[in-house]
Amino acid sequence: MQHLLTLADVSADEIAYLCANARLMKHKRGAIQPPALAGHTIALLFEKPSLRTRVSFEVAARELGANCLYLSPQEVGLNKREATADVARVLSRYVHCVVLRTFDHATVEEFAHSASIPVINGLTDAHHPCQGLTDAFTIVEQCEAQPHPIVAYLGDGNNCAHSLLQAGVKLGMHLRIATPPGYAPSAQVVAQAQCEAKRTGGSVTLMTDTQEAARGADVLYTDVWASMGQEAEIADRRAIFAPYRIDAALLALARPAAIVLHPLPAHRGDEIATEVIDGPHSRVFVQAENRLHMQKAILRRLLTTSQSALANLSA
Ligand code: CP
Ligand code: NVA
Repeated sequence: MQHLLTLADVSADEIAYLCANARLMKHKRGAIQPPALAGHTIALLFEKPSLRTRVSFEVAARELGANCLYLSPQEVGLNKREATADVARVLSRYVHCVVLRTFDHATVEEFAHSASIPVINGLTDAHHPCQGLTDAFTIVEQCEAQPHPIVAYLGDGNNCAHSLLQAGVKLGMHLRIATPPGYAPSAQVVAQAQCEAKRTGGSVTLMTDTQEAARGADVLYTDVWASMGQEAEIADRRAIFAPYRIDAALLALARPAAIVLHPLPAHRGDEIATEVIDGPHSRVFVQAENRLHMQKAILRRLLTTSQSALANLSA
C-alpha cells in the first residue's frame, strides 16, 4: 500500500489490520506512546471544505509526533495556478505525505503518479476511502455480535457509498443499496464488490425500495443528497430523494438493536430525521470520533513499517 486512493485494491487483510490498529489507537489515546511519526510533515491540500477530515488528520498527525500544514483551496490552485504534476513533485521535496481533497478522481491519480511520497485521498467526487475505512471500523466495533451484518445504505450512490461498498464486502458484510433510479453506485464498483463478496461470504444488492433495504438490517446508513460540487442540483435532488429519508418509521423496520450512521455534515429533515440522528440508535458521533483513530492507523501504515508498528503498540 503505497498510496490510499480507493479501497478497490486494499486487501481484506489490510482493512482488518487497519481496523485493529484504529481500535488500539482508540484504547491507547492519552497514554504515553513513542511518537511514531516524529520528524514527519503531513500536508493537507484541500480544494473543498472540511471539518472532520481536516481536523482528524491534523490532530492524528500531531498526536503521533508529526507536523501538519493545511493548504486551502485559494492557496495552491491545482491545474489553475500550477500543473497538478508540478505541485506533486514540489511537495514531495518538502513533506512526507499529502492528503488531497479534490473534485475529479483523476486529479488524485495524476497527483499520486507524479509524487514520490504517499498520497491519501481525502475525498474525491468518486471515492472517500478514509471514510469507508472508518465506517467499516465503526460497524465492526458497534455490531460485534454480528459477523456478517446487514448494512442498508439509502440515498445517493456517491463517493461514500462507493467506499462503504468496497470496505464492507471485504469484511463479509451484506450491503443493500437503495437509491432512486439513475442514482445507483457506479456499475464498475458494484461489479467488483460483488466479485469480492463471493470470496468473503458477503453480498451486494441494489434496489430502489427503502423498506426492502431497511427490513431486518443491522445498520442504516445515509449521506447528503447533494454532495460538494452539486449545489446547483439541491432543489431537484430534494424532490427526487425525499422518499429515501431515514425516519422513525423506516428505523422501526430494522433490527431492534440497529445502529444509524451518517458521515456528516447532515441535513436534519432531509436525508435523516432529527429524531433519528439525535436518537438512541444513532452512532453518528462515535463514527465521527473514529475518523481520528482511523487516520492514525492510515498514517502509521503508510509512513512506518506496518507490522512492527502494530507489534510495538500491542507490546
Ligand atoms: N465526513 C467528512 O469527510 O466530513 P468533512 O467533509 O467535514 O471532512
Ligand atoms: N458525499 C458527500 C460527503 C461529505 C463528507 C460529499 O462529497 O460532499
